[in-house]
Amino acid sequence: MTASSAPGKIILFGEHAVVYGRPAVAVPVTQVHADVEVSASSRPGIWVHAPGVNLDAELNSLPSDHPLAAVIHNLFFSLGISPFPPLDIRVNSTIPVASGLGSGAAVSVALLRALSSHLGHTMTDEQVSAFAFEIEKLHHGTPSGIDNTVITYARPVYFIKRHPIETVKVGEPFTLVIGDTGIPAPTKQSVGDVRRLVAKNNYRMERVFDEVGQIALMARRIIECGHTAMLGDLMDQNHAYLQEMTVSSPELDKLVRAARKAGALGAKLSGGGRGGNMIALVPPDLAEAVSRSLLEAGAKRAIVTQVP
Ligand code: MEV
Repeated sequence: MTASSAPGKIILFGEHAVVYGRPAVAVPVTQVHADVEVSASSRPGIWVHAPGVNLDAELNSLPSDHPLAAVIHNLFFSLGISPFPPLDIRVNSTIPVASGLGSGAAVSVALLRALSSHLGHTMTDEQVSAFAFEIEKLHHGTPSGIDNTVITYARPVYFIKRHPIETVKVGEPFTLVIGDTGIPAPTKQSVGDVRRLVAKNNYRMERVFDEVGQIALMARRIIECGHTAMLGDLMDQNHAYLQEMTVSSPELDKLVRAARKAGALGAKLSGGGRGGNMIALVPPDLAEAVSRSLLEAGAKRAIVTQVP
C-alpha cells in the first residue's frame, strides 16, 4: 500500500490580484489534510472510494471530467501506463470542500504522489505541482497556480504567477483564526466576475491590483522580520480592496467585523470570496475569544492555526 497526505492552504495576502501577475502570500494549514491510499486490488478495474463525498465506483463509470478521474486518467496517460493495473484508491479529506482551503488541489497532490509512487514513478515536487496546476485549469478556468504550489511544497510561499517558487521564512510564529461562512466559494465565478470588472474599468482595477501587490510585498518583509503584529493593518487594507473587487459578501464582512470587535489585529476574506473563509490575525491569548465571536456571528466552524 502507498499513502500520501497533503495539507490545506490559506491565502494571507493577494488573492485575485495574483491572477493578474501581482505577488501573493499563502501558507499551508496542516490541521486539515487530504489523505490518499493506493493498493493492489483483488478484483479487476480501478476502484475509487471517497466516503466523504459518498463515492464508491469503478473508474470507468465516472465522467471523464470528474476531478479524481481526471487526475488518474491524465497521470496514466502521461506515464504511458496501459492496460490499467487493478487498484483500490481510498481518498479521505478533512478539508472543507469549496471553502477556499484548497481541498481540490490537496486531493490532486496527494493522489498524484500516492499513485505515481505506487506505480514506481515517484514525481518531484516540481512535477507534482505542475501536474496539479493542469488539473486546476480543468476545473477553475484561469487559476494563478498559487494553490497547487503552496500545497505541494507545504511551506509559506511568496508567489508570482509563472515565476519560480519563493518560500518565506517566518521570523516569529503568528496565530490566525480561520472562520468559515459555510457558503460555497465559487472561485471560478468570482475570478470571472473580477475579469469582467477589469474589462469594464481596466485603469482602476490595475491600480487596485498594484496596491494589493504592494501589500503582499510588505507583508512578506514583515513576516520575515518577525514584526507580525503589523500584518493586521495590511489585512484590513487588503480586505477593503477585495470589497472593491466585489468578491466579499455580507456574511464575510460580518465575520471580519466580529473578529476585529473581539480583539483581532486585522481580518480579511481569504481565497476566491463570496463565501468560504475569512482569516483573522490574533494575539494567541485571544484566539479562543475570537473563535467564539465568529461562531456567534454565524461561522459554521472556526480553526485556530499557528504559522508555521
Ligand atoms: C483562489 O484560492 C485564489 C484566487 O486568487 C484564484 C487563483 O489565484 O487562482 C482567487
